[in-house]
Amino acid sequence: MITLKQQQELVRRATRIRRKAYAPYSGYRVGAAALGASGRIYAGVNIESAAYTTTGHAEMMALAAGVAGGERELLTLSLVTDNALPPFPCAICRQGMAEFDRGKMIVIAANLSGKTRATTLRRLYPHPFGSRQLGIDPAKY
Ligand code: THU
Ligand code: ZN
Repeated sequence: MITLKQQQELVRRATRIRRKAYAPYSGYRVGAAALGASGRIYAGVNIESAAYTTTGHAEMMALAAGVAGGERELLTLSLVTDNALPPFPCAICRQGMAEFDRGKMIVIAANLSGKTRATTLRRLYPHPFGSRQLGIDPAKY
């Protein structure tokens, strides 16, 4: 279970890191923070590239920091943008996040005015492509 305080902390962390987004082409800054099963929080921002398609999304950058920090399960991911209606992660990020979801990942979308909406990754992406389709158990890795 994740507490309301942890959720607020995740939104704070995503809001703070968002200023570091590298988005000179779109001007659209995204900050993200992921809570690992260890209780540690990892932050990420979108990183654009002049070769557009090499852009990294904030959610995937936070997830990468978590995995590099030794996490294999993520409990919650928050993302902060400047939209009146805070958007949930794009489809590609949902697939990336699903790899580290054990069925209870909460996704919190927030904006700079403090408006938030939350749901589960399962709800956002009910039928992820997964290790089962490959007949592989990542826990054995
Ligand atoms: N972006 C994210 O970082 N996360 C999303 O889920 C959607 C889009 C970034 C990519 C690009 O740098 C900018 O937002 C505009 O698409
Ligand atoms: Zn994305």
